[in-house]
Amino acid sequence: MGLYAMTGGATGIGNAIKQQLLSQGNQVIVVDIKDADIIADLSTLEGRQAAVEGIAAAAPDGLDGFIPCAGVGPHISPPSMVARINFFGALAVTEGVKSLVAKKKGAIVMISSNSATMGYEQEVVDLMLAGNEAGASAKLDEIGNGQLAYGGGKYALSCWLRKASKAYAENGIRLNAVAPGFTETPLTDAGRSNPEFAEVLEEFIKSIPIGRPGLPKDIAEATCFLLDPEKAGFISGTILFVDGGHDAMLRPNSF
Ligand SMILES: NC(=O)c1ccc[n+]([C@@H]2O[C@H](COP(=O)([O-])OP(=O)(O)OC[C@H]3O[C@@H](n4cnc5c(N)ncnc54)[C@H](O)[C@@H]3O)[C@@H](O)[C@H]2O)c1
Repeated sequence: MGLYAMTGGATGIGNAIKQQLLSQGNQVIVVDIKDADIIADLSTLEGRQAAVEGIAAAAPDGLDGFIPCAGVGPHISPPSMVARINFFGALAVTEGVKSLVAKKKGAIVMISSNSATMGYEQEVVDLMLAGNEAGASAKLDEIGNGQLAYGGGKYALSCWLRKASKAYAENGIRLNAVAPGFTETPLTDAGRSNPEFAEVLEEFIKSIPIGRPGLPKDIAEATCFLLDPEKAGFISGTILFVDGGHDAMLRPNSF
Protein backbone atom coordinates (compact mmCIF):
# COMPACT_ATOMS: atom_id res chain seq x y z
CA MET A 1 0.00 0.00 0.00
CA GLY A 2 1.05 3.64 0.22
CA LEU A 3 3.60 5.63 2.16
CA TYR A 4 2.27 8.78 3.83
CA ALA A 5 3.82 11.49 6.02
CA MET A 6 2.00 13.77 8.38
CA THR A 7 2.51 16.25 11.19
CA GLY A 8 0.53 16.25 14.43
CA GLY A 9 -0.19 12.52 14.52
CA ALA A 10 0.27 12.14 18.29
CA THR A 11 -3.26 13.05 19.40
CA GLY A 12 -6.72 14.14 18.28
CA ILE A 13 -7.59 14.46 14.59
CA GLY A 14 -4.04 13.64 13.45
CA ASN A 15 -3.99 10.44 15.45
CA ALA A 16 -7.35 9.37 13.94
CA ILE A 17 -5.97 10.05 10.43
CA LYS A 18 -2.87 8.01 11.24
CA GLN A 19 -4.96 5.09 12.58
CA GLN A 20 -7.22 5.12 9.52
CA LEU A 21 -4.27 5.13 7.10
CA LEU A 22 -2.61 2.29 9.04
CA SER A 23 -5.86 0.28 9.06
CA GLN A 24 -5.90 0.53 5.24
CA GLY A 25 -2.45 -1.13 5.18
CA ASN A 26 -0.40 2.05 4.61
CA GLN A 27 2.80 3.16 6.28
CA VAL A 28 2.78 6.53 8.03
CA ILE A 29 5.75 8.72 9.00
CA VAL A 30 4.68 10.98 11.87
CA VAL A 31 6.25 14.32 12.80
CA ASP A 32 5.17 15.79 16.13
CA ILE A 33 6.55 17.55 19.16
CA LYS A 34 5.93 14.27 21.08
CA ASP A 35 5.21 10.55 20.45
CA ALA A 36 6.40 10.53 16.82
CA ASP A 37 8.92 9.06 14.39
CA ILE A 38 10.43 12.51 13.96
CA ILE A 39 10.32 14.83 16.95
CA ALA A 40 10.27 18.46 15.81
CA ASP A 41 8.89 21.75 17.08
CA LEU A 42 7.22 23.28 14.04
CA SER A 43 7.11 26.74 15.58
CA THR A 44 10.85 27.02 14.83
CA LEU A 45 12.90 27.13 11.61
CA GLU A 46 15.14 24.33 12.96
CA GLY A 47 12.13 22.14 13.74
CA ARG A 48 10.64 22.62 10.27
CA GLN A 49 14.01 21.78 8.69
CA ALA A 50 14.36 18.66 10.88
CA ALA A 51 10.85 17.60 9.82
CA VAL A 52 11.56 17.97 6.09
CA GLU A 53 14.97 16.28 6.34
CA GLY A 54 13.57 13.45 8.46
CA ILE A 55 10.73 12.79 6.03
CA ALA A 56 13.11 12.90 3.02
CA ALA A 57 15.40 10.37 4.71
CA ALA A 58 12.47 8.04 5.50
CA ALA A 59 10.85 8.33 2.05
CA PRO A 60 13.65 8.59 -0.55
CA ASP A 61 11.37 7.22 -3.31
CA GLY A 62 8.60 9.70 -2.60
CA LEU A 63 5.28 9.95 -0.78
CA ASP A 64 1.74 8.97 -1.76
CA GLY A 65 0.44 11.74 0.43
CA PHE A 66 1.17 14.35 3.09
CA ILE A 67 -1.08 15.80 5.79
CA PRO A 68 0.14 18.87 7.72
CA CYS A 69 -2.19 18.48 10.70
CA ALA A 70 -0.19 19.82 13.69
CA GLY A 71 -1.82 22.83 15.24
CA VAL A 72 -2.68 24.61 18.46
CA GLY A 73 -5.85 26.36 19.61
CA PRO A 74 -6.60 30.07 20.06
CA HIS A 75 -6.01 29.79 23.82
CA ILE A 76 -2.22 29.43 23.31
CA SER A 77 -0.18 32.48 24.24
CA PRO A 78 1.33 34.55 22.73
CA PRO A 79 -0.97 34.68 19.67
CA SER A 80 2.07 34.69 17.35
CA MET A 81 2.79 31.10 18.46
CA VAL A 82 -0.56 30.03 16.97
CA ALA A 83 0.40 31.52 13.60
CA ARG A 84 3.93 30.13 13.74
CA ILE A 85 2.69 26.54 14.15
CA ASN A 86 -0.66 26.57 12.31
CA PHE A 87 0.31 28.67 9.28
CA PHE A 88 4.07 29.09 8.88
CA GLY A 89 4.95 25.60 10.17
CA ALA A 90 2.29 23.88 8.06
CA LEU A 91 3.33 25.76 4.94
CA ALA A 92 7.08 25.27 5.37
CA VAL A 93 6.80 21.50 5.71
CA THR A 94 4.28 21.28 2.85
CA GLU A 95 6.60 23.19 0.52
CA GLY A 96 9.56 21.17 1.82
CA VAL A 97 8.02 17.79 0.94
CA LYS A 98 6.36 18.91 -2.31
CA SER A 99 9.01 17.26 -4.52
CA LEU A 100 8.61 13.96 -2.61
CA VAL A 101 4.84 13.98 -3.19
CA ALA A 102 5.39 14.92 -6.86
CA LYS A 103 7.57 11.81 -7.33
CA LYS A 104 4.54 9.58 -6.74
CA LYS A 105 1.90 11.99 -8.06
CA GLY A 106 0.33 11.95 -4.62
CA ALA A 107 -2.07 14.16 -2.70
CA ILE A 108 -1.78 16.73 0.08
CA VAL A 109 -4.64 17.40 2.49
CA MET A 110 -4.19 20.45 4.72
CA ILE A 111 -6.25 20.99 7.86
CA SER A 112 -8.04 24.32 7.79
CA SER A 113 -11.03 25.11 10.03
CA ASN A 114 -14.48 26.58 9.77
CA SER A 115 -13.03 29.31 12.05
CA ALA A 116 -11.26 30.57 8.90
CA THR A 117 -14.31 32.59 7.92
CA MET A 118 -15.37 33.66 11.42
CA GLY A 119 -13.02 36.61 11.85
CA TYR A 120 -9.56 37.68 10.81
CA GLU A 121 -7.49 40.85 10.33
CA GLN A 122 -6.79 41.36 6.61
CA GLU A 123 -3.48 43.15 7.33
CA VAL A 124 -2.19 40.11 9.22
CA VAL A 125 -3.44 37.71 6.54
CA ASP A 126 -1.58 39.78 3.92
CA LEU A 127 1.63 39.60 5.99
CA MET A 128 1.21 35.83 6.30
CA LEU A 129 0.63 35.36 2.59
CA ALA A 130 3.70 37.51 1.88
CA GLY A 131 5.71 35.05 4.01
CA ASN A 132 6.53 37.78 6.55
CA GLU A 133 6.61 35.70 9.73
CA ALA A 134 8.29 38.37 11.85
CA GLY A 135 5.83 41.05 10.70
CA ALA A 136 2.72 38.88 11.15
CA SER A 137 3.94 37.72 14.58
CA ALA A 138 4.63 41.26 15.79
CA LYS A 139 1.22 42.49 14.62
CA LEU A 140 -0.63 39.54 16.19
CA ASP A 141 1.08 40.05 19.55
CA GLU A 142 0.31 43.78 19.38
CA ILE A 143 -3.41 42.99 18.77
CA GLY A 144 -3.24 40.28 21.46
CA ASN A 145 -6.19 38.19 20.25
CA GLY A 146 -5.64 34.42 19.90
CA GLN A 147 -8.89 33.93 17.98
CA LEU A 148 -7.71 36.33 15.26
CA ALA A 149 -4.40 34.45 15.11
CA TYR A 150 -6.22 31.12 14.81
CA GLY A 151 -8.94 32.14 12.33
CA GLY A 152 -6.50 34.34 10.42
CA GLY A 153 -3.94 31.55 10.09
CA LYS A 154 -6.56 29.10 8.83
CA TYR A 155 -7.98 31.72 6.44
CA ALA A 156 -4.49 32.49 5.09
CA LEU A 157 -3.80 28.76 4.71
CA SER A 158 -7.02 28.35 2.71
CA CYS A 159 -6.21 31.35 0.46
CA TRP A 160 -2.66 30.04 -0.08
CA LEU A 161 -4.05 26.61 -1.02
CA ARG A 162 -6.48 28.07 -3.58
CA LYS A 163 -3.66 29.99 -5.23
CA ALA A 164 -1.08 27.17 -5.09
CA SER A 165 -3.31 24.31 -6.24
CA LYS A 166 -2.75 24.99 -9.97
CA ALA A 167 1.04 24.85 -9.69
CA TYR A 168 0.81 21.75 -7.50
CA ALA A 169 -1.52 20.08 -10.01
CA GLU A 170 1.02 20.83 -12.74
CA ASN A 171 3.46 18.80 -10.63
CA GLY A 172 0.95 15.95 -10.45
CA ILE A 173 -0.18 16.75 -6.90
CA ARG A 174 -3.80 17.22 -5.82
CA LEU A 175 -3.81 19.89 -3.09
CA ASN A 176 -6.98 20.08 -0.94
CA ALA A 177 -8.04 20.78 2.63
CA VAL A 178 -10.64 19.76 5.12
CA ALA A 179 -12.14 22.49 7.30
CA PRO A 180 -13.32 20.81 10.50
CA GLY A 181 -15.91 22.35 12.73
CA PHE A 182 -15.87 21.89 16.50
CA THR A 183 -14.34 18.44 17.06
CA GLU A 184 -13.76 16.71 20.41
CA THR A 185 -9.98 16.54 20.87
CA PRO A 186 -7.42 17.56 23.51
CA LEU A 187 -7.31 20.99 21.76
CA THR A 188 -11.02 21.67 22.30
CA ASP A 189 -11.00 19.99 25.75
CA ALA A 190 -8.54 22.71 26.79
CA GLY A 191 -10.99 25.40 25.66
CA ARG A 192 -13.99 23.71 27.28
CA SER A 193 -12.25 23.45 30.64
CA ASN A 194 -11.15 27.11 30.55
CA PRO A 195 -13.70 29.22 32.51
CA GLU A 196 -13.11 32.12 30.09
CA PHE A 197 -14.36 30.13 27.07
CA ALA A 198 -16.48 27.28 28.55
CA GLU A 199 -19.95 28.89 28.43
CA VAL A 200 -19.56 30.34 24.93
CA LEU A 201 -18.24 27.02 23.63
CA GLU A 202 -21.16 25.02 25.06
CA GLU A 203 -23.61 27.42 23.32
CA PHE A 204 -21.58 27.12 20.11
CA ILE A 205 -21.73 23.31 20.26
CA LYS A 206 -25.50 23.39 20.85
CA SER A 207 -25.91 25.43 17.64
CA ILE A 208 -24.32 22.79 15.34
CA PRO A 209 -27.14 21.86 12.93
CA ILE A 210 -26.32 18.11 12.91
CA GLY A 211 -26.83 18.17 16.70
CA ARG A 212 -23.46 16.95 17.96
CA PRO A 213 -19.79 17.96 17.98
CA GLY A 214 -17.46 16.32 15.48
CA LEU A 215 -15.33 13.31 16.34
CA PRO A 216 -11.73 12.86 15.12
CA LYS A 217 -12.99 9.90 13.04
CA ASP A 218 -15.34 12.23 11.08
CA ILE A 219 -12.38 14.36 10.00
CA ALA A 220 -10.17 11.32 9.31
CA GLU A 221 -12.82 9.82 6.96
CA ALA A 222 -12.97 13.03 4.91
CA THR A 223 -9.17 13.38 4.85
CA CYS A 224 -8.67 9.79 3.66
CA PHE A 225 -11.35 10.31 1.00
CA LEU A 226 -9.47 13.36 -0.36
CA LEU A 227 -6.17 11.43 -0.28
CA ASP A 228 -7.62 8.52 -2.29
CA PRO A 229 -6.85 8.86 -6.03
CA GLU A 230 -9.66 6.41 -6.93
CA LYS A 231 -12.34 8.37 -5.08
CA ALA A 232 -11.08 11.95 -5.31
CA GLY A 233 -8.88 11.94 -8.42
CA PHE A 234 -10.66 14.97 -9.95
CA ILE A 235 -10.75 17.05 -6.75
CA SER A 236 -8.11 19.78 -6.47
CA GLY A 237 -8.05 23.20 -4.80
CA THR A 238 -11.08 22.35 -2.66
CA ILE A 239 -11.73 23.15 0.98
CA LEU A 240 -14.18 20.57 2.29
CA PHE A 241 -16.15 21.71 5.34
CA VAL A 242 -16.72 18.86 7.79
CA ASP A 243 -18.61 20.75 10.44
CA GLY A 244 -22.12 19.39 10.90
CA GLY A 245 -23.54 22.21 8.77
CA HIS A 246 -22.18 25.08 10.88
CA ASP A 247 -20.56 27.04 8.03
CA ALA A 248 -23.74 26.88 5.91
CA MET A 249 -25.79 28.02 8.92
CA LEU A 250 -23.46 30.93 9.72
CA ARG A 251 -22.88 32.06 6.09
CA PRO A 252 -26.03 31.06 4.22
CA ASN A 253 -25.44 33.55 1.38
CA SER A 254 -21.79 32.68 0.67
CA PHE A 255 -20.07 29.68 -0.81
N1 LIG B 1 -10.56 20.15 17.26
C1 LIG B 1 -11.20 21.04 16.50
O1 LIG B 1 -12.34 21.44 16.81
C2 LIG B 1 -10.57 21.57 15.26
C3 LIG B 1 -11.37 22.32 14.38
C4 LIG B 1 -10.80 22.82 13.21
C5 LIG B 1 -9.48 22.57 12.92
N2 LIG B 1 -8.72 21.85 13.80
C6 LIG B 1 -7.31 21.61 13.44
O2 LIG B 1 -7.03 20.24 13.47
C7 LIG B 1 -5.64 20.06 13.70
C8 LIG B 1 -5.47 19.03 14.82
O3 LIG B 1 -6.02 19.57 16.02
P1 LIG B 1 -6.66 18.67 17.16
O4 LIG B 1 -7.94 19.30 17.51
O5 LIG B 1 -6.61 17.25 16.81
O6 LIG B 1 -5.68 19.02 18.37
P2 LIG B 1 -4.64 18.13 19.21
O7 LIG B 1 -4.10 19.04 20.23
O8 LIG B 1 -5.26 16.85 19.63
O9 LIG B 1 -3.53 17.77 18.11
C9 LIG B 1 -2.56 18.68 17.70
C10 LIG B 1 -1.28 17.93 17.42
O10 LIG B 1 -0.28 18.88 17.01
C11 LIG B 1 0.90 18.65 17.75
N3 LIG B 1 1.64 19.89 17.93
C12 LIG B 1 1.28 20.98 18.65
N4 LIG B 1 2.24 21.91 18.64
C13 LIG B 1 3.25 21.43 17.86
C14 LIG B 1 4.52 21.92 17.47
N5 LIG B 1 4.96 23.11 17.90
N6 LIG B 1 5.28 21.14 16.67
C15 LIG B 1 4.85 19.91 16.27
N7 LIG B 1 3.66 19.39 16.62
C16 LIG B 1 2.87 20.14 17.41
C17 LIG B 1 0.40 18.10 19.08
O11 LIG B 1 1.43 17.43 19.82
C18 LIG B 1 -0.74 17.20 18.65
O12 LIG B 1 -0.29 15.90 18.29
C19 LIG B 1 -5.08 21.44 14.04
O13 LIG B 1 -4.46 21.98 12.89
C20 LIG B 1 -6.32 22.23 14.40
O14 LIG B 1 -6.17 23.62 14.16
C21 LIG B 1 -9.23 21.33 14.95
